[in-house]
Amino acid sequence: MRGCIPRASKLLALRLKREIAVSDPITLLEAVGGDIPLLVDHRRRMFEDWAEAEGKHFAPADLDTMAKDYAAHLQAHLGDGLVWGWIAQLGEEVVGSGVVSILAYPPVPGSPPEHTALLHSMYTVPQYRRRGVARQITEAAIASCRENGCNRIVLGGKGTEAGRPLYESVGFKLSESSQLML
Ligand SMILES: CC(C)(COP(=O)(O)OP(=O)(O)OC[C@H]1O[C@@H](n2cnc3c(N)ncnc32)[C@H](O)[C@@H]1OP(=O)(O)O)[C@@H](O)C(=O)NCCC(=O)NCCS
Repeated sequence: MRGCIPRASKLLALRLKREIAVSDPITLLEAVGGDIPLLVDHRRRMFEDWAEAEGKHFAPADLDTMAKDYAAHLQAHLGDGLVWGWIAQLGEEVVGSGVVSILAYPPVPGSPPEHTALLHSMYTVPQYRRRGVARQITEAAIASCRENGCNRIVLGGKGTEAGRPLYESVGFKLSESSQLML
C-alpha cells in the first residue's frame, strides 16, 4: 500500500492542482506559504467561535502562543507534504479554509502501518456559512487523503455543534477520543 507520508521525491506528484474544480461560485485553492497568516487567523477564530458557543474563554496569551506555534507548524510542513490546506474563495474573497496534517502512527500487527490524517482548523467566515463551503473543503480533504494512501482521518475531538452534522454526513463516527490530559 502506498503511504501517505510523502518523501521529498514524491512531493511534486502529491501536490494538488493549484485550482480545484468545484461547483460555482466557490473555488477551492491549495494553500501555499503565503496563506499561512490567513490559516492561522482562521484557526484562532475557530477557537474563539467555539469558546463563545460553549460559554468558555481562552486567555489571549494562550491564543497568541497557539497562533505562533501553529504558524511554525505550517511553515515547517505546508511545503513538505505533511500538511495540506484549502482556501475557499468566492470571487476574490476568502470565505473559508481547512487543513489536514499527516500524523505518523506506529505500525499495527497484521496490517500496514497506519497512515492517519488529522482534519482540523475548519473555519467559514460567518456571513458565508450554510452555503456548503466547509462541505466542499471536507470532501476535498477526504479525496486527497484517499488518493495519497491514508487509511484513517481523525478529528481533534467530537466537533462543534455547527461542525458535527457535516462530519457525520460524510461518514465520521464522532466521539471524545480516549486521552489523559496532563
Ligand atoms: C462549522 C463550520 C466550519 C461549518 O461551515 P459551513 O461552511 O457553514 O458549513 P456548510 O455550509 O458546508 O454546511 C454543511 C452542513 O453542516 C451542517 N451545518 C452547518 N452549519 C450548521 C449549524 N450552524 N448548525 C447545524 N448544522 C450546521 C448542515 O448539515 C450543513 O448542511 P446543510 O447546509 O445541507 O444543512 C462553520 O460553522 C464555522 O466556521 N464555525 C466556527 C468554527 C467551527 O466550529 N469549526 C469546526 C470545528 S470542528
